[in-house]
Amino acid sequence: MTQAPSKAASPPLATPDFSELRAHAARWKTRSMREAFEQDPGRADRYAVELGELYFDYSKHLVDDEVMASLVQLAERAGVPERLAAMYAGEHINTTEDRPVLHVALRHRGESTFVADGRDVVPEVRAVLHRMRGFVGKIHDGSWTGATGKSIRDVVNIGIGGSDLGPLMVSTALKPYWRDGVRTHFVSNADGAHMSDVLSRVDLERTLFVIASKTFTTLETMLNARTVRRKLTDAFGPEAVSKHFVAVSAAPAAVAEFGIPSANTFDFWTWVGGRYSLWSSVGLSIALAVGMDRFEELLHGASIVDDHFASAPLAKNVPVLMALLGVYYINGWDRHSHAIIPYAQHLSRFAAYFQQADMESNGKRTRLDGTFCDYATGPVVFGEPGTNSQHAFFQLLHQSPDFVPTDFVGTAQTHHALVGHHEVLVANFLAQPEALMRGKTQQEVTAELLSAGVAPDRAAALAPHRAFAGNRPTTTLLLRKLTPRTLGMLIALYEHKIFVQGVIWGINSFDQWGVELGKELARTVLGDLQAGEPGENHDASTRKLIAKYIRWR
Ligand code: F6P
Repeated sequence: MTQAPSKAASPPLATPDFSELRAHAARWKTRSMREAFEQDPGRADRYAVELGELYFDYSKHLVDDEVMASLVQLAERAGVPERLAAMYAGEHINTTEDRPVLHVALRHRGESTFVADGRDVVPEVRAVLHRMRGFVGKIHDGSWTGATGKSIRDVVNIGIGGSDLGPLMVSTALKPYWRDGVRTHFVSNADGAHMSDVLSRVDLERTLFVIASKTFTTLETMLNARTVRRKLTDAFGPEAVSKHFVAVSAAPAAVAEFGIPSANTFDFWTWVGGRYSLWSSVGLSIALAVGMDRFEELLHGASIVDDHFASAPLAKNVPVLMALLGVYYINGWDRHSHAIIPYAQHLSRFAAYFQQADMESNGKRTRLDGTFCDYATGPVVFGEPGTNSQHAFFQLLHQSPDFVPTDFVGTAQTHHALVGHHEVLVANFLAQPEALMRGKTQQEVTAELLSAGVAPDRAAALAPHRAFAGNRPTTTLLLRKLTPRTLGMLIALYEHKIFVQGVIWGINSFDQWGVELGKELARTVLGDLQAGEPGENHDASTRKLIAKYIRWR
């Protein structure tokens, strides 16, 4: 293990041993899933878990019972059950920020306590939910009015990262549940084009701005919030702020300094990571879009998975299995990407959401004890909805020399009534994993071409181009229907998957120091842009680019 220059933060960690995974990978390089299915009639049943309205099929992976046993042992050796217990017990598992990690408390429905720093947080969580319910009710019944006495028709969530991606993804996913009379919009980017586009679609008199920021210092969010505050006070005077702004934040002092009264502030807590904050008052824009009852159903769905995660044996524990399969490909097979393909248009932001959740959590090399990993950690996550993605990057998934482990997410039932669409969608959702697994040999291609009348020479030349190696691993997650509850379940599965992987890699999945350096340098560059000349402390390329921009702007 390479030693980091800094003093170790925690007791030395055992180095994870991936040698068995590499041996299994070597063995599976000469095995085929096609044959595994033919030889083992119980495979599809054995490698699947049904969790209420969610069915998890991992039979199309490069695994057998031996691989799964090694993976489960790896989780045991890494202390996954103990770390899980520590998280639920409110221990400061986010060591570098010295905080508990208790997003599970935000969605807890039962009578248990969740204790952070000696205090049960559940009553505070429920008190905020109660306040949110009251506020959402006033917006929906029209009794909350703007500066000119008109009710609210548009809600603009201003936030970025976890304070944007979560509420945006969930609101988009739950479109069939949107309330009549309220439209939600999201502004995140510092690019003024984002804010101008949204402002051009709303009437300020009838718009509520939800400023979502855990820290209430994030550059983009504060820039956008100040822009709107200026516009509102110019139009309606300083009193407009309390009529058109609410804040969701873990920094009430900063909110007050900005000028938003405490009556309009919905707190959350430092033990809620930004990437896990949609379950807190950051979910206010979700509740405004779909109503508080639906928001609570979402929480309920997540709590079903939280209970499963805490109680199911590792070998039947869906988030643990998802995590282990990921580790198998990353550390056993040296495959460093992961695709998430929802066959549901309303899940169009699902992969983007987990790109942040996964890459900001596990894109790290420093271990809890301050040493550096000499093994790979979090994958590059990407994805777009099917079937569109089939016409974009599936060529690579099917025929690249490399393979990309891919999750397929689909639904049995739909919210729309358009005849014929869903079966076409589902046919593709089910066919793609099959195609990735089965592949098509050159002999099969040649036989097809010959029987279609293609000349033997031409068939021989085409066969390698039209053949598919197959044996490409996929997970299939089938939901009965995309509802607030099943969506809550789905999100929680991925969250816990990320946690388990972090435990195995010995990293802290809950900090994000990697975003700091760029922010710091941006402040210096901004100073130079405002001063009209590049400072001395940049490299030659950056200095030249600053000078070029100043000349061209
Ligand atoms: O990009 C870093 C980050 O801290 C994310 O983790 C977070 O979700 C985002 O910025 C927004 O932070 P805040 O909610 O404090 O504005």
